[in-house]
Amino acid sequence: MISAPGPVAPGNVEGPELETASASLDRNGNGPVPRHVAIIMDGNGRWATARGLPRLAGHKAGAEAVRRALQAAADAGVEVLTLYAFSSENWRRSDEEIADLTGLMRFYLERELDKLMDEGVKLRLIGDYRAFGPDLSQRLESAVERTAGNSRLTLVVALNYGSRRELAQVASALARRAASGEIDPETIDEAAIESELDTAGLPELDLLIRTSGEVRLSNFLLWQSAYSELLFTPVLWPDFGEQAFNDALEQYSQRQRRYGGR
Ligand code: IPE
Ligand code: IPE
Ligand code: MG
Repeated sequence: MISAPGPVAPGNVEGPELETASASLDRNGNGPVPRHVAIIMDGNGRWATARGLPRLAGHKAGAEAVRRALQAAADAGVEVLTLYAFSSENWRRSDEEIADLTGLMRFYLERELDKLMDEGVKLRLIGDYRAFGPDLSQRLESAVERTAGNSRLTLVVALNYGSRRELAQVASALARRAASGEIDPETIDEAAIESELDTAGLPELDLLIRTSGEVRLSNFLLWQSAYSELLFTPVLWPDFGEQAFNDALEQYSQRQRRYGGR
């Protein structure tokens, strides 16, 4: 007979309580609200194609959906909203589409910055956004600086982000620190890796949503989603609104998170 491992003393288990990982309740005292929600905003191109429009029209409509999701997240009491805006693989798209996306980022950054300030939103970036060039990088960095004192909601935008590269960079950073004698390789644990991730310091990812019916992660938050609840919806990103966001939160509140417990 295989002997079962002994029970783990609850005090030794780090992390959230079983069943309801994020115990904060919504304004009506219902269900747990996820502290950290991430969205793979997919389906802009198909939304446009279905209407006989150029892909750019889909990306513009997608940018409007970002405003709605941000508002819905803030209203629901979500602390962190992380949005996948451009992957490290999206450079495979045409020069024209990349230029369109870069132009839209610049436009919306300018247009929405005052709104972010009014709404108490703190902007944070993950991914190697400097690849978009000095002009956009400086605008992004100044928006991060300007919103640094806000605390109602943190909006994390993933720009030229790829999870495998992020993890390779973590390995490289830890190896450098070990080689210089700053840390002992034997002490490298999960917390050491977490501290070098682009997402260091953010609450655990509770809910990961992907729109457009694709059921894959496309190199997004691979480490961070180890115990996230995953939600795949056929809705195309430009059609995703406040109701869809609240439906996702409702589904999350029905999930039972077990973390390997029973
Ligand atoms: C998501 O929509 C936006 C980005 C990846 C920048 P897509 O452009 O991938 O839309 P589909 O998947 O082609 O419909
Ligand atoms: C993922 O969508 C990236 C973003 C939403 C920014 P893609 O459309 O690039 O993903 P794949 O190619 O379908 O996996
Ligand atoms: Mg896509």
